[in-house]
Amino acid sequence: MKITETGGITAARNLAELRRALGAWRQAGQSVALIPTMGALHAGHLSLIARGKSLCDRAVASIFVNPTQFGPNEDLSRYPRDEDGDLRKLAQAGCDLAFLPSADEMYPEGFSTSISPGPLGEILEGHFRPGHFSGVATVVTKLLLQVLPDIACFGEKDYQQLQVIRRVTSDLNLPVRIEAVETLREVDGLAMSSRNAYLTPEQRRRAPALHFALTEVARRARKGDPVAAAWGTHSLLGAGFDKVDYCLVCDAETLLPVERIERKARVLAAAWLGRTRLIDNLPLDPP
Ligand code: PAJ
Repeated sequence: MKITETGGITAARNLAELRRALGAWRQAGQSVALIPTMGALHAGHLSLIARGKSLCDRAVASIFVNPTQFGPNEDLSRYPRDEDGDLRKLAQAGCDLAFLPSADEMYPEGFSTSISPGPLGEILEGHFRPGHFSGVATVVTKLLLQVLPDIACFGEKDYQQLQVIRRVTSDLNLPVRIEAVETLREVDGLAMSSRNAYLTPEQRRRAPALHFALTEVARRARKGDPVAAAWGTHSLLGAGFDKVDYCLVCDAETLLPVERIERKARVLAAAWLGRTRLIDNLPLDPP
């Protein structure tokens, strides 16, 4: 038995250890929630754990900085890592098991299969981060098949990711319920994110302009303003963002841009403060 107790939580580091822990619960008839993460945990992640625990007997969090969802010029090597802190936070949040596979465990030599989510994975984030959603879809599918949870929790913070995972699990008939959890924000509106740690104090002061711009775009679009999204881009640049990858009003399901709000929509944006890329989104219901 190699499963280790670290900081008050059981940590499984490979599939055999994971299956041993899960097997005991399944035998006892207990339900299981999975919360996939890349670590550097903050209160947003912990709200997913709380949701999982409220819906299932057991919550399993995975911590794996998945190399296949990072592009060659992205932040894989500097992505924040804090395993001890993460395990402590998970224990405090009442999480029952942490799964911390190695890259070799997830992608052994010769690994070559990947899941392509199709058009939904090519637009918005997928356009600016080619291959990103294939990496996400592949690792999440693997995690779902490894844990076989009743429910898996994902944050609306990464709204396109949530839609991609809904698409993939539905298309592949994966027997899991996908539970969406609303975005947790700092008091000034900035969506919590592991990447906020990259911001300098000056950039941190400017960052809440993203949430403000999305709120205002949603208000304008709801009133029928056809240039609401363009106003959003302009406003972000005026507020000190260095570059805006996109700021768009899209259908909440297909994520294709819409001109009139006749069904549930979503305002989505990605913008840069220096070398740090922030994303955020808000719901937009028809008037
Ligand atoms: P990560 O960025 O660590 O996020 C893990 C989960 O936490 C995702 O479902 C994300 O949407 C959610 N989350 C992040 N910030 C949040 C916030 N402020 N409020 C609520 N939920 C929030 O997303 C990933 O990791 C990876 O792509 C992963 C799905 C683990 C696949 O590698």
